[in-house]
Amino acid sequence: MRETASRSSTSSSGEGEFFRDTVARSSSPPPRRGRGGPPRLEARAISKHFETHAGALPALVDVSLAAGAGEFVSIIGPSGCGKTTLFNILAGLEPPSSGDVLLNGVERTSQPGAVGYMLQKDLLLPWKSTLDNAALGLQLQGVSWRRAREEARGWFPRFGLEGFEREYPHALSGGMRQRAALLRTFLARREVLLLDEPFGALDALTRAEMQGWLLDVWTEFGKTIVLVTHDVEEAIFLSDRVYVMTPRPGRIAAAVEVALPRPRVYDEAVTSVPFLALKRKLLDSLRSLG
Ligand SMILES: Nc1ncnc2c1ncn2[C@@H]1O[C@H](COP(=O)(O)OP(=O)(O)O)[C@@H](O)[C@H]1O
Ligand SMILES: [Mg+2]
Repeated sequence: MRETASRSSTSSSGEGEFFRDTVARSSSPPPRRGRGGPPRLEARAISKHFETHAGALPALVDVSLAAGAGEFVSIIGPSGCGKTTLFNILAGLEPPSSGDVLLNGVERTSQPGAVGYMLQKDLLLPWKSTLDNAALGLQLQGVSWRRAREEARGWFPRFGLEGFEREYPHALSGGMRQRAALLRTFLARREVLLLDEPFGALDALTRAEMQGWLLDVWTEFGKTIVLVTHDVEEAIFLSDRVYVMTPRPGRIAAAVEVALPRPRVYDEAVTSVPFLALKRKLLDSLRSLG
């Protein structure tokens, strides 16, 4: 396995054993991100309204955003502002009322299957083992059952799931379930991954550990990630850029660049002066919208 270029946080509670064991330390610099060429993913002036019994319900208005090669981008906004709707549109599962979705500069609106998508609910299949669940992303790409299982099995230690290959999802902790769903998403052989509140249901310590770990695997896999969250610290800690959405109908109110150096170590990063200044800026911007 390749060395990782960043370090996880290592607090000792929750799933701390796994995180301590998998911390990799390396001085290699993180890859250059987002330079040259069209964005990997671009939303151009996306609007969406739903037809309801009460009439047209506007969910999104004129949303534009972009994520470059290998960038980590977050979208933050209050519950109900249209984040999942936006992801469904970016994933091609739902048509926008107007606007375009582009991948690598090519128009791909309403064409599913081009990006990896981890839904807000992890949706592990309860009747399949953890290994079969993780292998599903590869199988859906046409990889044989045997090869998909082999490849997925190889990543189990890195995803903190070793020894749980034959267990069913109900036997896993919340963090493990999320890592199994993330493994399935990472293995889906897509350059762009959409992650919809992947850590929303986890306790604060496990969440912080998972964030550090996610940065490590993101660096290893070199994917472009767009993540939805309503947690300001999570958005800043993970991202190169944070888009702030207004309450419904969701519009992009601000795009904030996060120029904090990488690799980022959780406890150091979230208590640093530049981090706190960014947090203040994002909180102010969210409050001014409320
Ligand atoms: N299929 C649908 N039909 C009608 N209204 C919907 C549908 N899907 C979502 N909505 C509405 O659109 C708004 C945005 O929902 P959603 O995208 O799930 O928000 P978020 O993910 O930010 O919490 C909400 O008011 C929700 O009730
Ligand atoms: Mg949602």
